Amino acid sequence: MQNLTALSLKTTDGTLYVLDQTLLPQQQQWRACRSVAQLVGMIKQLQLRGAPAIGIGACLLLALRAEQGVSRQQLQQDAEILRAARPTAVNLMNNIDSMLHALATPDYATAAVACAEALFAEDVALCQQMAAHGAALVQPDEQLLTHCNTGGLATAGVGTALGVINLAHQQGKNIRLWVDETRPLLQGGRLTAWECQQLGIPYQLICDNMAAMLMARGQVDRLFVGADRIAANGDFANKVGTYSLAVLAQYHQVPFYVVAPHTTVDLNCPDGSVIPIEQRDASEVRGVCGAFVQTTFHQIIWAPQDAPVFNPAFDVTPASLVTGWVLDTGVYSQQDIASGVLQQLV
Ligand code: MRU
Repeated sequence: MQNLTALSLKTTDGTLYVLDQTLLPQQQQWRACRSVAQLVGMIKQLQLRGAPAIGIGACLLLALRAEQGVSRQQLQQDAEILRAARPTAVNLMNNIDSMLHALATPDYATAAVACAEALFAEDVALCQQMAAHGAALVQPDEQLLTHCNTGGLATAGVGTALGVINLAHQQGKNIRLWVDETRPLLQGGRLTAWECQQLGIPYQLICDNMAAMLMARGQVDRLFVGADRIAANGDFANKVGTYSLAVLAQYHQVPFYVVAPHTTVDLNCPDGSVIPIEQRDASEVRGVCGAFVQTTFHQIIWAPQDAPVFNPAFDVTPASLVTGWVLDTGVYSQQDIASGVLQQLV
């Protein structure tokens, strides 16, 4: 298999390495991943996260194991185990389906490697296409707002929503970005802020509950967010807190865009109500954990130790609140979505 490199994933001489996103931005530590159980653990712990990156990482590991001579039957079982690692991001399931097709061919090892390499290259290309379509919407001097992390860390390429924002920045549009910290796991505060610094994007970090005030003051011109799954009617699931941003955006008449590759569309979900929503550990809400500057991993708890917790990792934004769907194939309006454009794409 080729040596491939993305911001959070790489293959080097037959081994998959994952940049541990739980340690960013304090530490940049690449972890070798040699087994399916290990990768499932990394996905569940969010060491590897972001809808497209999870799917690509799973395919790379399957391909490397195929190359190492693991049997077809074992790989098919591995694929099903990986498919179940996280329930909401559909890119994982779509990519696993592609790998299962490859594994069903006579020379399954060669086919699996070719499939994983093609999916990696496709994701890079899809990110560039989304960035081009989305950046064209951005006007000079705009203040943008984003949620969670949708950059290079979350994909094999330049990212989805953050890829759009970065291209607008590179085009010299003099944008400024508000970055939601994104409770409970702080993907905005830890990961998007780090990527913005690497990319030189002018940004300010805000707590999630500050977006309303900024919109009321006219300090947000446009929002770009990612998606973990887009239903056939255009409803979409993304990191919890996205829906409240969409409601705020409509109230304040600020354009609200979702940015995702067509691999995030799931026509088996007629609408957002049937998208499975992952419930995550109560400890994420009772307090916070993360890597501190001294490089040790700490947990701080502020709630009662046994406080009952509701912790959905994602919420669903109805299509009626979306100004436009920025996909790799173009930007679609509510009218386009209602007339069945997603059904033609997938
Ligand atoms: O739980 P996470 O960090 O994997 O959630 C990620 C998101 O919600 C992203 O916005 C989504 O995966 C799109 S990433 C290109």
